Amino acid sequence: MLNEDVRIAPSVLSADFTRLGQELESIRDADLVHYDVMDGHFVPNVSFGMGILKQVKAATDIPLDVHLMVTNPEEQTPWFLDAGADIVTFHMEAQTHANRLCSLIHAAGAKAAVALNPATPVSLLDSVIEDVDMVLVMTVNPGFGGQSFIEGSIAKIRKLRALCAEHGVNPWVEVDGGIVADTAERVVAAGANVLVAGSSVFGAKDRGVAIGALRDAGHRGLTVRG
Ligand code: DX5
Ligand code: ZN
Repeated sequence: MLNEDVRIAPSVLSADFTRLGQELESIRDADLVHYDVMDGHFVPNVSFGMGILKQVKAATDIPLDVHLMVTNPEEQTPWFLDAGADIVTFHMEAQTHANRLCSLIHAAGAKAAVALNPATPVSLLDSVIEDVDMVLVMTVNPGFGGQSFIEGSIAKIRKLRALCAEHGVNPWVEVDGGIVADTAERVVAAGANVLVAGSSVFGAKDRGVAIGALRDAGHRGLTVRG
């Protein structure tokens, strides 16, 4: 069934930026490169912007999954589309005109995704779920790598899948934060199919092995899901 494979998206937030080219080469088995943009307002931390995204685009053929943790996504999205984003994810908490921003992203030929912080209910997606290619369920409060997975995320993913079924749509469901083999298996069993992983990939000596372990865990989750 379409959409039911598991995709692994290493987050370059946990990479060694002094060796970014080699770090990208080390994740050549990945399906997506997850690129966390933090503005110091929507989240406390600051990361990187569109200039470095352009360099990442030039250094890899893997599609770029840009996660905008910014207060003004409508203003910033065109910059990241120009820089080579293949997927643009904006936060529902930061965007008052979500459908309009989805149209803008689609007009540029990219995929549109919306993200929910842990405290934001799935019901907020009711009027936008039919317009998105992917929903990102944050499984930590965004801002930093290396945090612990929030257990309530499992029930939230199930609620999201129920909402999708009500609307007759089947977007990718991405999770981000605290993803290791154990949590990977359980989120996929609940309905996720895109796994972001920062420290569990870039903290490993062999990134190919780390990506393979997450993929295997995800496949076990698919089996449980039936
Ligand atoms: C958190 C970022 C994540 C982060 C995940 O705010 O959105 O993408 O890099 O890091 P880990 O996998 O270490 O929790
Ligand atoms: Zn992220």
